[in-house]
Amino acid sequence: GGKKTQEEGNLRILVLASSRLYCTFVLLLLIFTPRVDSSWWYIGALGARVICDNIPGLVNKQRQLCQRHPDIMQSVGEGAKEWIRECQHQFRYHRWNCSTLDRDHTVFGRVMLRSSREAAFVYAISSAGVVYAITRACSQGELKACNCDPNKRGRDRDDKGEFDWGGCSDNINYGIKFAKAFVDAKEKTVKDARALMNLHNNRCGRMAVKRFMKLECKCHGVSGSCTLRTCWLAMSDFRKTGDYLRKKYNGAVEVTMNQDGTGFTVANKNFRKATKNDLVYFENSPDYCLMDKAAGSLGTAGRICNKSSRGTDSCEVMCCGRGYDTTRVNRITKCECKFKWCCAVECRDCEEAVDVHTCKAPKRAEWADQT
Ligand SMILES: *[C@@H]1O[C@H](CO)[C@@H](O)[C@H](O)[C@H]1NC(C)=O
Ligand SMILES: *[C@@H]1O[C@H](CO)[C@@H](O)[C@H](O)[C@H]1NC(C)=O
Repeated sequence: GGKKTQEEGNLRILVLASSRLYCTFVLLLLIFTPRVDSSWWYIGALGARVICDNIPGLVNKQRQLCQRHPDIMQSVGEGAKEWIRECQHQFRYHRWNCSTLDRDHTVFGRVMLRSSREAAFVYAISSAGVVYAITRACSQGELKACNCDPNKRGRDRDDKGEFDWGGCSDNINYGIKFAKAFVDAKEKTVKDARALMNLHNNRCGRMAVKRFMKLECKCHGVSGSCTLRTCWLAMSDFRKTGDYLRKKYNGAVEVTMNQDGTGFTVANKNFRKATKNDLVYFENSPDYCLMDKAAGSLGTAGRICNKSSRGTDSCEVMCCGRGYDTTRVNRITKCECKFKWCCAVECRDCEEAVDVHTCKAPKRAEWADQT
């Protein structure tokens, strides 16, 4: 029997050791797994199969809203493609170009873990995108929970005089309300500095859409004399929101948490205070020059740069001083266009040789140094 107990003893030690190893492993995971990113962004990648239980990183409240409003989630998903496209448009000439990772539920990768200006922009434009998508879907009658703005009825007046509300006014208040409940839910589960930053920037995004609501009118009366007008409130193109938030990104204010943890203090005392319409961030950005997996930077090797530009897309800035390669490519352009009566423009396809400059990859040694 002595042998057996010996074996049992060994086994017990093994089990103990491995469970301790397991605990250590779990503990390490807890310590080193950073905050998961706002994974509702991933809804955009799911297409028509939004299954609320399968979206990693949704908090309880988000999962509930998702289950209760599958039609709204559909809009949120389609909207995500749109605001990501807008983000990429705004940053097409930048080292960080808002690129996403395929099949990665964090969508933007580890870049968003840093409380940078770029993170501030992404949180703002994603919230704006949700407001936009839901509001539009309300007006198009695609959602059970909302419709055109029911308060825009009867008579009203603007600087041109009186008018009748008519048609369909975009119900932006519903879009804002839902976006706030859904997007902000994640930040309400923790009370840390980053959550406060996200909440602030999310709000900036929501309000940016409202800022570009415009009154559209149709004239009635004798031969369109416009003595009678029917008007409705409509959202402008999302590009306007994108351009506006891009300006806010340029003017974003670096802040720190204030003493009681309820608001922000401007990091540099010489700068103006951050208002509620400014984007705020805590950490300066990496230079995004080199591939750095830990920081989520893709680097700029292979990016196209512009030799005659003096801006962020210039070869000096984009390639971080590493230099560039030039290749000559043939491009088809429209040329010799003629106006044909009536009413068409006919062009010929011309081939044109153009130089394309692309950033060199870093040399091996430099690589090893920096990563
Ligand atoms: C962004 O840059 C990366 C390399 O830094 C490139 O692979 C990617 O195609 C670019 N994405 C867009 C949308 O331009
Ligand atoms: C390069 O930059 C110049 C100056 O900003 C601009 O006029 C030109 O259109 C740019 N070229 C391309 C291909 O973007």
